[in-house]
Amino acid sequence: MNEQIKPLFVATAPFAERPRHAGKSRRLLARLSSLSATAIDKIEWFGVTIQKIANTLRFEQFWKERIARDQRVTIVPTFNKSTGKHPIWNIALNWVNANSSSGTLLELGTNNGGSLKYFVDHLPRTFRLVGFDCFEGLPESWDGLPAGSIKGFGGPVELWADDPQKRREIVANLERGIGFPPPPQPNVNIESGLFSESVTRYLSKNGWPDDLRLIHFDADLYISTRPILDTICGPLKYRYIILFDEFYSANHEFKAWREFVDLYRFSDWRVLSASEDGSQVLIEMNVHASLG
Ligand SMILES: C[S@@+](CC[C@H](N)C(=O)[O-])C[C@H]1O[C@@H](n2cnc3c(N)ncnc32)[C@H](O)[C@@H]1O
Repeated sequence: MNEQIKPLFVATAPFAERPRHAGKSRRLLARLSSLSATAIDKIEWFGVTIQKIANTLRFEQFWKERIARDQRVTIVPTFNKSTGKHPIWNIALNWVNANSSSGTLLELGTNNGGSLKYFVDHLPRTFRLVGFDCFEGLPESWDGLPAGSIKGFGGPVELWADDPQKRREIVANLERGIGFPPPPQPNVNIESGLFSESVTRYLSKNGWPDDLRLIHFDADLYISTRPILDTICGPLKYRYIILFDEFYSANHEFKAWREFVDLYRFSDWRVLSASEDGSQVLIEMNVHASLG
């Protein structure tokens, strides 16, 4: 410590058993603080439900304004066992292939690697694909599913789908707690860990992507979507596309998108495609700009 600097004077107040709230309503509410934790959880549930109702109504307005009024939007069937999500994935991949011959694709929420495998199989090797996942399941509860749900095998095993024996070996290793090797596709990278660590690590290593073509949001949760929208999509001013996998989830991806658009006062976007039920939505960003 620098010897010339004396400690600064600190004004003190009498020791307080409770916070001395400045606001009247806060003081009134504080009287309920003896409620049980269960009762407080119920109040929170009520608040979340009310918010969900509001966001569901906003979703209907979004559909009216951004889809029903725009005849260019392609509606695809709701996810089903025979076609899966291929129709909207194909629209996204056709956009990427029609507009560029190389670039970066980011996937937030890779799980077993099913979507990433489909994307890499339908693009030339000149594209780089990066899959982000903690491989530990959802870090928070989501729409009735508890935290830890959707863990899958604990690694992107579908990337080895063309080599069933290797895939089986990797599944068995994951069950024994042994990690997975680098993907067999040289243009695919996997960044493991919570996004708060892995995306930060990726950006500090590679910088902000200057040739992003597609960002696939498939992490379900608000907390896993909003920070990435703000951090990655906010600063990007060139044209690219975003695919949401659970857009209809009113308090999660949809809420994250709405808040992001408000924060950045972002209006230069349009919906390219949506599934009939609104779960998958494909958005073109910076429609009037050129590609990165
Ligand atoms: C619906 S799954 C992804 C499905 C995958 N795209 C596929 O096609 O099989 C959602 C994944 O997001 C991951 N996830 C959600 N939030 C995350 C976060 N904040 N950090 C890291 N992974 C997260 C979960 O671990 C889970 O594997």
